[in-house]
Amino acid sequence: MKAPVLLSLAVAVVCGVAVTAQAQAAKSNLVAAGHDFALQVCAPCHVVANDQKSAPMLNPPAPSFSAIAQSNDLSEATLRKFLSTLHRNIGRDGKMPNWLLADFQIDEIVAYLLSLKDGQGSSKF
Ligand code: HEC
Repeated sequence: MKAPVLLSLAVAVVCGVAVTAQAQAAKSNLVAAGHDFALQVCAPCHVVANDQKSAPMLNPPAPSFSAIAQSNDLSEATLRKFLSTLHRNIGRDGKMPNWLLADFQIDEIVAYLLSLKDGQGSSKF
């Protein structure tokens, strides 16, 4: 009688591990997609990554993504709000354009920016 219980326990454990691994893979895909998207769209004004090929054109540049990520008031909620609403009144002269990003793009950018919180910086320029 014990074997089926043990077996279903084992199945549950294995499934749990698989689900966690899947969630982690999905998360790192989001981070990678956010990194690539930021290099294409945000890099003209922000230093977004260590592998950014050229310095931002905007002079002086907007805050680097690593600086943004280290900021104490940064959270997933504040980032999502910033990226999904009109924010002409935020920051100096409202210079950050409103991107009207799609939800999936916001998910990617948020995942990428939050992944920079641990200090792997983008301080190249
Ligand atoms: C045309 C230049 C420009 C581009 C392109 C740009 N930004 Fe910005 N961004 C700015 C400026 C200037 C600021 C600082 C002023 C402000 O907060 O509005 C800023 C601020 C920010 C902030 C807030 C920083 C803080 O201190 O709270 C975030 C987050 C941000 N940008 C994300 C992005 C993302 C993500 C992209 C790409 C989708 C992007 N930016 C593209 C110019 C730009």
